[in-house]
Amino acid sequence: MSKDQKNAHIDTLCIHGGQEKCAVTGAVMPPIYTSSTYAQESPGVHKGYEYSRSHNLTRYSFERAVASLENSGISSECDTSNGGFAFASGLAATATCLELIDSGDCILAMDDMYGGTYRLISRVRERSQGLRPVYIDMTDIESVEQAVKEHKPKMIWVESPTNPTLKVSDLKAIAEIAEEHGAIAVADNTFASPMLQRPLESGMHVVMHSATKYLGGHSDVVGGVLVTRDEELAQRIRFLQNSIGSVMGPFDSYLCLRGIKTLAVRMQRHCESAMTIARFLEQHPKVESVVYPGLESHPQYEVASRQMALHGNPAFGGMITIFLKGGVEESRRFLETVEIFALAESLGGVESLIEHPAIMTHASVPAEARAKLGISDSLVRLSVGIERVEDLVEDLSRALDAV
Ligand SMILES: Cc1ncc(COP(=O)(O)O)c(C=O)c1O
Repeated sequence: MSKDQKNAHIDTLCIHGGQEKCAVTGAVMPPIYTSSTYAQESPGVHKGYEYSRSHNLTRYSFERAVASLENSGISSECDTSNGGFAFASGLAATATCLELIDSGDCILAMDDMYGGTYRLISRVRERSQGLRPVYIDMTDIESVEQAVKEHKPKMIWVESPTNPTLKVSDLKAIAEIAEEHGAIAVADNTFASPMLQRPLESGMHVVMHSATKYLGGHSDVVGGVLVTRDEELAQRIRFLQNSIGSVMGPFDSYLCLRGIKTLAVRMQRHCESAMTIARFLEQHPKVESVVYPGLESHPQYEVASRQMALHGNPAFGGMITIFLKGGVEESRRFLETVEIFALAESLGGVESLIEHPAIMTHASVPAEARAKLGISDSLVRLSVGIERVEDLVEDLSRALDAV
């Protein structure tokens, strides 16, 4: 990255961060390099590219772009993609990240997180890697401190805001505890995106994204990302990315790179519309309660207002969780009646989506754990897209009338 880019505004970095025009043609977007292998002049003599799992320029372009947005601070001399690494999915990124710790190690994880992350840790890696997970509510910093002293984790995994109950944890406080105790602190930043929150700047060691969501932004690609600010971790992740091999392909890298060019404008609209919708739902008689980090009623409103910002002003993302009055039947009727909101898993795209976590995205979380976290049959999750907000409000209003 050039010196000029380092001083550029984040809106500009969405478009130019980590990018260089093609030296041969001047192309402003990188070509999709499909070649799986590269010709060598003599055995072992090549241009730095041997095999596409290990080296791919389209992937590097996307990896450098995200590293720039997350402000990794790692130079190209130290790491060719500035400490950014792209994977075939968010879970592939998570799975590779978990390989940073050893068999038998403790991982301290957020009690509420994406169901697939929970499934990977508890139903795969507990068995195959002997990981010892301890799940706690990390919104309570004292309990993080206590758990770290008691269990001596090698990794702390925090998601903020969480999926689906939108808990917000103090990333800076957690990073300080991790640093003091020599644990690797990882933040799943999928819900906030680097536009609203840059965990590495708060001291986290690694940031993870499901690029399927806001980074890609158009619900047309599955991908994942890790970014680190730590040079030694960058070397280790590079080794693991190549050794495990669950890399992002060149076509998907191209789509994700194209997606983040509009991240700044999309996030602005997601945040504004979600705030309007949260306020509308808050006063609706068919809605028991609304969880949105931007509402004063949110339990971590103060932390969220400090930690999440767009262009210097508090901003809280496009995800809203509501509890409807009634049970599964009322939820079903509501979800079947919406028209603009598509009833579908996933989030973070330009189109609005709505879903029922207990039956859909979080079915892999045991019923007992779901009950403890409050993921009940009346909980509905909304991903507010960038359609005209009045149309979205009308859609929800009509569906609520039908409940
Ligand atoms: C917060 C969060 N992290 C990780 C993932 C996993 O990402 P992927 O579906 O790309 O594997 C998801 C998917 O929904 C998610 O919401």
